[in-house]
Amino acid sequence: MSSERSAIILAAGLGTRMKSARPKVLHELLGRSLLGHVLRAVKAVGPERQIVVVGAAADQVREHLAEHAPESTTVFQDKQLGTGHAVRIAMEANPDLTGTVIVACGDAPLLRPDTLAELVEVHEKARNGATVLTAEVDDPTGFGRIVRDNEGNVLRNVEHRDADLGELAIREINSGTYAFDADVLREQLARLDTANDQGEEYLTDVLELAREAGHAVGAVVVDDPTEVLGCNDRAQLAALRRILQGRINTELMKSGVTMEDPETVWIDATVKVAPDVLLHPGVQLKGATAVDSGAEIGPDTTLTDTIVGAGAEVVRSHALQAHIGEGAHVGPFAHLRPASKLAEKAKVGAFVETKNAEIGRGAKANHLAYLGDATVGADANIGCGVITANYDGVHKHRTEIGEGAFVGCDTVLVAPVSVGDGAYVAAGSTIVKDVEPGDLAVARARQAALTDWVAKKRPGTVSDKAARRAKGEAGVSEA
Ligand code: UD1
Ligand code: CA
Repeated sequence: MSSERSAIILAAGLGTRMKSARPKVLHELLGRSLLGHVLRAVKAVGPERQIVVVGAAADQVREHLAEHAPESTTVFQDKQLGTGHAVRIAMEANPDLTGTVIVACGDAPLLRPDTLAELVEVHEKARNGATVLTAEVDDPTGFGRIVRDNEGNVLRNVEHRDADLGELAIREINSGTYAFDADVLREQLARLDTANDQGEEYLTDVLELAREAGHAVGAVVVDDPTEVLGCNDRAQLAALRRILQGRINTELMKSGVTMEDPETVWIDATVKVAPDVLLHPGVQLKGATAVDSGAEIGPDTTLTDTIVGAGAEVVRSHALQAHIGEGAHVGPFAHLRPASKLAEKAKVGAFVETKNAEIGRGAKANHLAYLGDATVGADANIGCGVITANYDGVHKHRTEIGEGAFVGCDTVLVAPVSVGDGAYVAAGSTIVKDVEPGDLAVARARQAALTDWVAKKRPGTVSDKAARRAKGEAGVSEA
């Protein structure tokens, strides 16, 4: 027996009940497509070849595979003539396959890599011709039922719609995941007929045919029946998401992550969270996000493809492709847009938006600022209401703010412009020329006073009365 392994993943169906322009297997579930989850589980058994059967919206699926699993190949199934037909054409397109062939469904994303590894191990050790992964479920409606003899040997699978009353009562169901010996599979696929309620070639019939041909046929029952759940509509997609979320969160908590309310914490399967991270309620961590130890996030924070350094704090904020340094502080209500890089102990506070901006070590932008296409030196202070005017209507320009610089409140920095190391900018300035290190730049109109303007132009108003009182004029009563 060859030790080679290959995998065939069935993904030709459109998934009509999803009511979507996107094929079902490309719908997203906590950081990966449904198909992506299946491929990841399949990888655990180290297949030399990974063959995906595509059909509906084949171009979209191929494009997705080219990006996320370029090692896989595809076989095109024009019409969906059944799971047996799908596997048959995949085998015909790969006539040299030997050893173990794993078959899995592209729409069953909760299958654990370890479970698949166990299936393959049992199959190969027993030298079975076919081994099916099954589950004992409370409600077997719609699934194929596993028929066993009195000694518990697997006889065959019967589809729900082809089953008699006795068979319908069976609660052991076919998961749709199998390990086959390539030669046995090829041989028995050639013998499939379409004599069933759907008039399709049923892959499931291979079990009975292989047994009749004298090959050993076995089954592995999963411990956790949620692993075999498929996805047919958006309600099921949401149910899968909740189950996977529970798994991910439980694993993270066991590894040392604190979640005050795990029900409200959503973490993609692709995210890394170190021990001793504290996650408050309402946190979403997505994509390639990674959070280092001691960081504290939330409540109500969404981080996508964002790196958070050790001991950093992110409160009620939103970040995409940002890098938050060790011990940095973000929020509440900050918006970090792509290529925002906060160095160690930097501070980006309430209603501050950053984009393509490097904020130096210990630098602070505590309130109401926009820092776009900017470099802020270490320990610089960005006052409330500072704006980098980075866009001239056609091009973007950079603003460079030096180390230890102090930019006063409500300053507009019209890029390209620089504020030198240790320079000061007076509040309310509009800076269009570079400020030299150590200078104070003042760029605002000088204040003028029109003496007693209120008394002349607004006599008798509350302002006038207040002013008169302030000046100690007799005869003005309290308002
Ligand atoms: C199949 C099994 C059933 C099992 C269930 C588990 C058969 C006959 N039945 O039923 O015993 O309990 O899975 O979920 O195999 N596909 C193709 N090409 C086709 C037909 C299907 O690629 O011609 C793909 C579908 O896109 C899907 C997968 O195969 O990803 C399963 O097909 P589906 O029609 O959903 O099979 P079930 O009726 O659910
Ligand atoms: Ca199905």
